[in-house]
Amino acid sequence: MNVIEIKPDIYWVGVVDWAVRDFHGYVTPSGTTYNNYLIMDEEVTLVDTVKHDFLEVGIANLKSIVDPSLIKNIVVNHIENDHMGALERVMEIVPRDVTIYATQRGKAGMGRFFDISKWNIKVVKTGDEIKTGKYKLKFIETPMIHWPDSMMTYVDGAKLLLSQDAFGQHIATAARFDDEFIDSASWAELQDATLDYYANILMPFGTLIKAKINEIQKMGIEIDMIAPDHGVIWRKHHERAMEMYLDMANNKAKERIVIIYDTMWSSTEQMALPMLRGIRDEEVDCKVIKLRSTPMSVAIKEFWKSRGCLIGSPTLNNEVFPSIAEFMVHLKGLRPKERLMAAFGSYGWGGGAVNWLYEMFKQMKMPVIEPGVQVQYRLKAEDENRCYEFGRNFARQVKEYQKKFNSASKTM
Ligand code: FEO
Repeated sequence: MNVIEIKPDIYWVGVVDWAVRDFHGYVTPSGTTYNNYLIMDEEVTLVDTVKHDFLEVGIANLKSIVDPSLIKNIVVNHIENDHMGALERVMEIVPRDVTIYATQRGKAGMGRFFDISKWNIKVVKTGDEIKTGKYKLKFIETPMIHWPDSMMTYVDGAKLLLSQDAFGQHIATAARFDDEFIDSASWAELQDATLDYYANILMPFGTLIKAKINEIQKMGIEIDMIAPDHGVIWRKHHERAMEMYLDMANNKAKERIVIIYDTMWSSTEQMALPMLRGIRDEEVDCKVIKLRSTPMSVAIKEFWKSRGCLIGSPTLNNEVFPSIAEFMVHLKGLRPKERLMAAFGSYGWGGGAVNWLYEMFKQMKMPVIEPGVQVQYRLKAEDENRCYEFGRNFARQVKEYQKKFNSASKTM
């Protein structure tokens, strides 16, 4: 992939990972990119590196523009391996006194990955600036978006926000810009990838994200391009990307229900179907996901899109089914908010799965509709009716709950 000038004398020098399908456990059916940027100003400045596996391609990209011995500064916006993995190798080809800019936690974290004793690292905080020539870089700390070390770099003079993980998407594409991508795919696909990334990576940090976007908006900086470290660069729709993040940080979701279940001998699955009919009879959209057949990160995304969620699990050895337990532990760690929850499931003798789920919902401080519905062994006609009514009532409750969030949203 050739380097691309995204602003005058500012280049994308990243790599496209067409093949990755498992990104630290997160399924990436469309691959991803590791974006980094080179500012060819009086002081040549590299912002971030690439994943270690791609370091030679990344270095070749750099060399296609500049002799690395001319690089004066390296900005490390984020120390996670996919962005800092190639740094040690890059340090071998740049001048020994190159200045690295990172947050305090970035510097400390860097020291856990590499021997930094001979590196010239300058710690920066929000509002600090360096002049590279015609451009000025302004640093904005963004702790926990995505790690404690994280920051963004605003390029004053280019109206460019280098946002590291924020606003990213796991999409491998030949297009570098949102407007090019939409020409070949669709806004819906790009929106879905942005939402997927947020749900799986940034969901726990909504409050911080909202505060940080407000802070950026109050800084009085003008942004006409947001360049994240994954996926396409927001050249045309950067305002929509920002709105989308604010909507997600405000826990906006569709009036929609997702049924996420697993099953042993099909009884729990058979409970889901009359529930679906009940939900549809209330004219609420619904998505059904059999967990064992669906990547975890897809289930998380569908959960995040929906205002209501029904979790179905059979009981196994008096416990919840293992795949559902795994999902719930993952979901709990993402600290979701403002989704209405309920549970259902089949059992043979003692039961236990539905109680386990409600206990979990309570630990997560999620609003619930209870009691859940349970069926022993096999559904009879009256059980089908109970499931239908349960689904229908749950849909009514979701519609009522959704009214609380009905301020207009352009993106969700
Ligand atoms: Fe793309 Fe948090 O790293």
